[in-house]
Amino acid sequence: MPQPYQEYIDKILIPEDKLQARVRELAAEINRDYAGKELLVICILRGGVMFLTDLIRHIEVPLAIEFMAVSSYGTGVRSSQGDVRITLDLNTNIYGRHVIIVEDIIDSGHTLSSVIDLLKTRDPASIYVCTLLDKYERREVEVPIRYCGFKIKNEFVFGYGLDMDEYYRNLPFIATVDLDKYGPPAG
Ligand code: PRP
Repeated sequence: MPQPYQEYIDKILIPEDKLQARVRELAAEINRDYAGKELLVICILRGGVMFLTDLIRHIEVPLAIEFMAVSSYGTGVRSSQGDVRITLDLNTNIYGRHVIIVEDIIDSGHTLSSVIDLLKTRDPASIYVCTLLDKYERREVEVPIRYCGFKIKNEFVFGYGLDMDEYYRNLPFIATVDLDKYGPPAG
């Protein structure tokens, strides 16, 4: 049974006020870039949900939201190994629309690379990526990122959408894991 997060935390990496301030800055950039246009914001489940719901509160151009779910065949807390499949596809046609994909974190890059390749075949007017976190040292395939909240080192993080075995996504801050208490990542 999962213990309270305090059992596993090493440190708070990005506190709530810093997260929220950066989210507002990203929304302001988006407002400038898309003035006079309308947006389709696609959230990749499940990690992107907290970021999405805060971000869109500050976006002033007309927008619709959609969700996609993607799974990799990787195991445990390690992320994708390059073998990505769509488990929930969009319910809408993106042809001719301005799309922003919202993610919590880009790690190896395989997830978003696959999603972008797929969505481009559907001929959107434009497609850009907005990620809260960029774990850049882990990149295996290049992903073009237009909006990035924070670049982070290769540490195991949780909270604000990111899970530890599906728990703790609801925390309003990003924290690092004390691997001595939680155990090393599987896989
Ligand atoms: C995480 C994250 C990205 C992906 C990034 O999702 O939300 O979608 O991994 O990793 P990559 O760049 O190495 O592909 P995860 O598979 O953990 O699912 P979740 O969002 O439901 O937690």
